[in-house]
Amino acid sequence: GKRVVVTGCASGIGAQTARVLAAQGAHVIGLDQRRGEEATAGFFEVDLGDPVAVDAVAEAIGGRVDVLFNCAGMAPTQAKMAILKVNYLGTRHLAERIAALMGAGGAIVSVSSNGGLRWRTRRATLLDLVAQASFADGMSWLKRHEGEIVNGYAFAKEALTVWTLHESARFIKRGIRLNCTSPGAVQTPMLSEIEEKIPAAAIDGATDPIGRRSEAEEQVGPLLFLGSDAASYVNGVDLSVDGGYSAIVALRE
Ligand code: NAI
Repeated sequence: GKRVVVTGCASGIGAQTARVLAAQGAHVIGLDQRRGEEATAGFFEVDLGDPVAVDAVAEAIGGRVDVLFNCAGMAPTQAKMAILKVNYLGTRHLAERIAALMGAGGAIVSVSSNGGLRWRTRRATLLDLVAQASFADGMSWLKRHEGEIVNGYAFAKEALTVWTLHESARFIKRGIRLNCTSPGAVQTPMLSEIEEKIPAAAIDGATDPIGRRSEAEEQVGPLLFLGSDAASYVNGVDLSVDGGYSAIVALRE
């Protein structure tokens, strides 16, 4: 079986992904800031917002890694800079460290969001952020631009998507594919947390045209596909898994 790293393995999409991978016989190494209910072959407790801790975990994992699934993320209800640090900077930092453990045939699949759908409207700004190669440089860029960033969650997801598309050209030279998915509303503990602050109607307004939220299980198939050998020629793709919402937006804009 493949040796696979799954972040956010304690809850929601990451927990479901780890569960299905383990059932398929993969050797799953889970990463999260806290322990969850999912039993993975290996587990590391780590705050993805802490680059020193991320470096230590990557070193502890060691050996060969075949696929990385970046599922961890902070909810939009959290503080702006913390979200930017975890959902973009830390996620990217981990991906680069884990990629160093991959050979040709490796794959990195990140859960972005259709909250980051409008990255094209900020392309130049996002490419400027993505050009900041180190965690520290990314952090000082974010501090300089903090005032201009209105929605930290959307901006972090836009950056993750643009990083995936942009860096896919670089990683493929080493035989490593980079792709992401952009889910719509997924029924997970994160969404329950959001619903405490945002009316359910606002969330369900964005479930057009399918008319219902996604179950976490429905996000797993697209993630596994992008990470599998069946997707060996799929690179630099942002796959919408949102019941068709992004199709409507694309035709409207
Ligand atoms: P969740 O809250 O159920 O799971 C997220 C996991 O990430 C948790 O176990 C949490 O402990 C972990 N995590 C958060 N911050 C961390 C940190 N600093 N270090 C290590 N681990 C950390 O959420 P869900 O819904 O499963 O989210 C998974 C991904 O899907 C996230 O990236 C989220 O932004 C994205 N997403 C979720 C949507 C939804 O409606 N639920 C919609 C679109 C995207």
